[in-house]
Amino acid sequence: MIRIAAVADLHFGADLAGTMRPHLEALPERADVLLVGGDLTRVGEPEEAMALAEELRDSPIPIVAVLGNHDYHSDREGEVRKHLEEAGVVVLEGEGVILEVAGTRIGVAGAKGFGGGFVGASGSDFGEPEMKAFIRHTKEVAARVEGALSALDAPTRVALLHYSPSEQTLQGERLEIFPFLGSYLLGEAVDRAGAALILHGHAHKGTEKGVTPGGTPVRNVALPVIRRPYNVYCLGDGDGLG
Ligand SMILES: [Fe+2]
Ligand SMILES: [Fe+2]
Repeated sequence: MIRIAAVADLHFGADLAGTMRPHLEALPERADVLLVGGDLTRVGEPEEAMALAEELRDSPIPIVAVLGNHDYHSDREGEVRKHLEEAGVVVLEGEGVILEVAGTRIGVAGAKGFGGGFVGASGSDFGEPEMKAFIRHTKEVAARVEGALSALDAPTRVALLHYSPSEQTLQGERLEIFPFLGSYLLGEAVDRAGAALILHGHAHKGTEKGVTPGGTPVRNVALPVIRRPYNVYCLGDGDGLG
């Protein structure tokens, strides 16, 4: 069994220095790995990433993260990523990693994801170049997630996103903004590749629990949704949430 601690939407900054480290030091008793689902910063400034990196540096358990839309806002996402990686955090964008923890292996495929909406109420790559670019970006990210997940040779595989793959975990948000909160294409991609769990954030007013049409459990771990420093999910080898 692998114990996965998960949170998203930390929206960290220098004013929060010292607030995460105590939780991190207590984590090894409760979890084998920490997954962070994007929006690590408020506006993607490297100083915010440096403040978070200091909290996460030399963590007692492996940390894997993806970036969120806020981490792109200052067009300095490369620096945000670099600061976290220098602190020992594995940052994924359309990539996968296999970790050896709890006497077994867990594969994590991660990407920011993107929007577009859900079946019956979604955008399509048709019309203006801006609209085509929007949906094509989602399709490209979904394809990368599918490829990264499929390539992971591990008994337990998890998808880590920022945007939602399911409208179920958006319940509580205004229906009008669902297309900006996620895309069914992400859920379909993970269903095809196969995963025991999808974690995401971004929907601060959403709902924790959902499931894709293909039956993959989805958990929205945005900090304002879970209202605690992290949630812990237990996965057995090859099967679902324990
Ligand atoms: Fe957020
Ligand atoms: Fe976000």
